[in-house]
Amino acid sequence: MTYPFVILILVHLSTNVATSINNHRFPSDFLWGASTSAFQFEGAWNEDGKTPNVWDYFLHNRPDFIPDKSNADVSANAYHMVKTDVELVKSLNLKVFRTSVAWTRILPQGNEGKPNQIAINHYKNLFRLLKENNIEPLVTLSHFDLPQKLSLYGGFLNSSIVEWFTNYARICFDNFGEDVKQWATFNEPYIWCVGAYGVGFLAHSKTNPGFWEYTCGHNLLKAHAAVWHMYDEEFRPTQKGTVSLTNAADWVVPKTSSIEDKEAAERHLLFRIGWFAHPLYHGNYPSVMIENIKNISINEEGRNSSRLPEFTKEEIKYIKGTNDIFYLNTYFAHYASNVITKLPPGFDNDIRATIEEIPNGITWGIRPFISWIRKNFNNVSIMITENGKGSTDAGLQDHYRIDFMQKIFSSIRDSMEIDNATVLGYTFWSLYDGFEVQYGYKMKMGLTYIDFNSNNRTRIPRQSAYYYSNVSRTGCISNSTCVDAASCCRAYSFPILSIIMAIIMAVLTLCRC
Ligand code: BGC
Repeated sequence: MTYPFVILILVHLSTNVATSINNHRFPSDFLWGASTSAFQFEGAWNEDGKTPNVWDYFLHNRPDFIPDKSNADVSANAYHMVKTDVELVKSLNLKVFRTSVAWTRILPQGNEGKPNQIAINHYKNLFRLLKENNIEPLVTLSHFDLPQKLSLYGGFLNSSIVEWFTNYARICFDNFGEDVKQWATFNEPYIWCVGAYGVGFLAHSKTNPGFWEYTCGHNLLKAHAAVWHMYDEEFRPTQKGTVSLTNAADWVVPKTSSIEDKEAAERHLLFRIGWFAHPLYHGNYPSVMIENIKNISINEEGRNSSRLPEFTKEEIKYIKGTNDIFYLNTYFAHYASNVITKLPPGFDNDIRATIEEIPNGITWGIRPFISWIRKNFNNVSIMITENGKGSTDAGLQDHYRIDFMQKIFSSIRDSMEIDNATVLGYTFWSLYDGFEVQYGYKMKMGLTYIDFNSNNRTRIPRQSAYYYSNVSRTGCISNSTCVDAASCCRAYSFPILSIIMAIIMAVLTLCRC
């Protein structure tokens, strides 16, 4: 009697998931987009009143730092190609363009002095053009960006960063808030603080691993919260936008089924993503982080107190609840094990877990990762603000990238459909090739190829751009040449019809007996 029921459910599932790719249509309001950032793509490093940021200064003084000895002085020349780029985003049918504002264009003195009207006009023009073309700007205030003048005062090690960043953010909200409704304060604080103040793989002056990345993170969280509160009180009532922090983390699974490895994987996640997400949702750092660092500092290193700074009760209250959307940048998945290899002092050593990359693991890992984030952070709405696939192959036929994208989209669709996750959108990194912060121009991540030998940095969309524009237009992730949503894929339907049919058939079968 149960056979018809089971058979019909199986038939339903098999027609919907004919392969392992979930090709059900994405909702029409899903925000498909692409990402860039000011420093990595704009070029024009010293034009129209802009002063050096930490990267300009650092790379001019350390020309060997990047393997191909490059810098971002010209890069993709985006500062001079606003119209072309808006047309490019439009031609790809994208609904969101994620980029950032260059702090030293807006405030050449870093904090003091009058805002630079040329820069304000430049960004006003960009955001207005996007809106006129029905493209939503998603704007980061500091994407690995800090005025060199403020770095001389310690940058994120100086608690005045809260005041400096708030002043700068106010100018941006005041001038661009009419067009910009999605704001991000900082990009990837984990990468920024470890890279610039701990290990030194990003632009830096001096580093002090195990201490300064935590000081940076502590001040950064306070600066984020101050800007969120300022927006909430002064701007949200009229501008009605959102302010969020962009977290960077990878999915991690235990290497074996041992309890120790399971704990190592969980610990890794709580350290990496919890460092910045936990305070925003629960008020303080994750307790495993507080305890581990305290234990290592006092019991192993013989210090009097933990290297991780503490928030006061008032600060905990002030920081909690200051994230409107969970912006997630994610590229990789790893195995974690409890094998403790002593690493150089610093954040990675404090985690006490060993990780190894699972090639292309994020293509399936993004789904359990989204579930983990929802479970840990109040069932939040998520926007994937960065994800993509880099290669040293500059060619236009990037089928490997299409394959990667299709798998990721399928997993995201599963999250939404099967796990009931709210995923608002996805902005691919990156719209075109540019200066990659650790690799220069060798690493190609763009949907669009850029001829860096041509004066105007000619843009040529790759195969993946055509694929992606079709995804955004139809909501379907299949790589066929279909023309519209109806012929490309089917909308998801709960197997209710199959269930009703199965019940009817079961009743009929019963009656016949
Ligand atoms: C950053 C980007 C970077 C990208 C690719 C992310 O960590 O936000 O600035 O270019 O990864 O490496």
